[in-house]
Amino acid sequence: MCGIFAYTGNKGKEAGGVLLDGLLSLEYRGYDSAGIFTPESGSVRSPGAVAELRKKMPKDFAGKSGIAHLRWATHGEPTEKNAHPHGSCDGEIWVVHNGIIENFKELKAKLERAGHTFSSDTDTEVLTHLIEEHLKHEKSFEKAALAALNEVRGTYGIALQYKKEPDRIIAARMGSPIVLGLGDGEHFIASDPTPILPHTRKVVFLEDGEVAVISPDGHRIFKLDSTKVKRDATDIDWSAEAAQKGGYEHFMLKEIMEGPEVIENTLRGRLIPEKGLAKLGGLETVAKQLEKIDRIIIVACGTASYAAQVGEYMLEEHARIPVEVEIGSEFRYKKPVVNERTAVLAISQSGETLDTLEAVREGKRHGALTLGIVNAVGSTIARETDAGVYNHAGPEVSVASTKAFLSQLTALALFTIFLGRQRGMTAAQGKEIARALKELPKKIQAILDTKEEIQKLAKKYAHARDFLYIGRKYNYPIAYEGAIKLKEISYIHAEGCGAGEMKHGPIAMIDENFPTMAIAPKDSMYEKMISNIHEIKARKGPVIAVATEGDKEIAKLADDVIYVPETLEMLSPILNVVPLQLFAYYFAKEKGLNVDRPRNLAKSVTVE
Ligand code: M6R
Repeated sequence: MCGIFAYTGNKGKEAGGVLLDGLLSLEYRGYDSAGIFTPESGSVRSPGAVAELRKKMPKDFAGKSGIAHLRWATHGEPTEKNAHPHGSCDGEIWVVHNGIIENFKELKAKLERAGHTFSSDTDTEVLTHLIEEHLKHEKSFEKAALAALNEVRGTYGIALQYKKEPDRIIAARMGSPIVLGLGDGEHFIASDPTPILPHTRKVVFLEDGEVAVISPDGHRIFKLDSTKVKRDATDIDWSAEAAQKGGYEHFMLKEIMEGPEVIENTLRGRLIPEKGLAKLGGLETVAKQLEKIDRIIIVACGTASYAAQVGEYMLEEHARIPVEVEIGSEFRYKKPVVNERTAVLAISQSGETLDTLEAVREGKRHGALTLGIVNAVGSTIARETDAGVYNHAGPEVSVASTKAFLSQLTALALFTIFLGRQRGMTAAQGKEIARALKELPKKIQAILDTKEEIQKLAKKYAHARDFLYIGRKYNYPIAYEGAIKLKEISYIHAEGCGAGEMKHGPIAMIDENFPTMAIAPKDSMYEKMISNIHEIKARKGPVIAVATEGDKEIAKLADDVIYVPETLEMLSPILNVVPLQLFAYYFAKEKGLNVDRPRNLAKSVTVE
């Protein structure tokens, strides 16, 4: 997720100021690097957020139109050379992009053979060179841009500017949002309405496969095949803050609702379903070393450590390699037994959690191969590990981690196929997991569509002061994750517990005021879970069950049931956690608490 903003006007405004203000309001979409271009003054780019860009801009930076960008890095480190806008060889064509061009490697190779020189490591830069190439044969910039867009695969929300036509800007959308702002003598393009709202409330949302051209006095929309599109403008009554949250009340809800898109982004270009293989570019350099390791230690903290525990079950069952999970804050103090046949895998959304980072360094000191599953590109853990897999979940603003957790589990499933196929997993097994992974986005959407039901449940139980969460096997870590979500944003006592372990202590707490959330899908542990639920009911404990669609038996036993679609047992945590995230969200909202910024917590814990 990056932020783009473009402006063209004849009202005498300085585009530089308009664009910088717009970027500031978009900063929640990315803060790895920022950049700006106007035909009059050229481009200025800087690593870091908008304040850094502002410092670098010369006092005489001028222009009546321009494009600007905030980057959340996906391909290439968050450096100045990788910051947008990117230009063509002749410096005439400039682009800002949000999304991923999947076939950029083949396009880049073709363009390099045709004599183009690239100056960044990004996928985005192929766009300008491709348009430059098409401009050799096409009659107009617009036609060349269309030809290029018809050649790329992947997702994009873009704004393009051509120096020779300074007051026209082209936008296009495929998978990444684009909105046009229609003003009087000025027009805008942005990733969402936030930067447009101070100027006009009249907007037009582009749909996938649509292209738009704006100039100070108007706009046109057409499809990739040039057919005209007529679309009425919408009047937006959101505040700028609501617009940043996509109209949701909190970032946490917005990020939970992004689940289907996040899984698609984590999977994009990484599965070869017909062969039952996972293609993880970031692990290619260490693929041979991975064949030789005999043990994996996964290091992580908090929510990431619960993803790690699910990963342990996935990897041991399907890749047949011993896995241990270590809490980052403990690992380096316990004199771990690690050698060059060990892989230390760090899981971290921020890539900056100090304890996880120190655990990686400890692994390195002992000669281990170090790997990362990290969301923030170019973060310290991403840089210090030997190889890794990026989540591609986009920035997570809410302190409570939700969408990053889904992407961590998805990346672990991909890693399981990758490693499993090196170690005896059959193509048929690989295909089965790949197929099930591809079905997850629509299944998550089906759960999200029941959010009003979950909200009602949260209201019903909002009086509770304590909660027990239980699960077994793959859903044992999900019990802990459900509990941490509730306690960190609601400040109530919530305990995660392996359902089989309950009899060894926690069941003593159960009475009619102590509800239990039981994660009980129809899998290999179903009968055992049913017995555990009976034990709670025998002590008058209220039970909410998270169960598989169509399971009528559980409805007779539990007080309330949240149904989720069926999937493979190893992937069921990815679905089962979603209602728990929604339940925690609505529970805290019911209590009127600051959901996105809970007391005493920081998004990234960079101290011991
Ligand atoms: O950035 P990281 O993934 O390394 O962060 C790890 C934990 O601090 C984090 O998951 C924390 O537990 C969340 N607030 C939980 O929602």
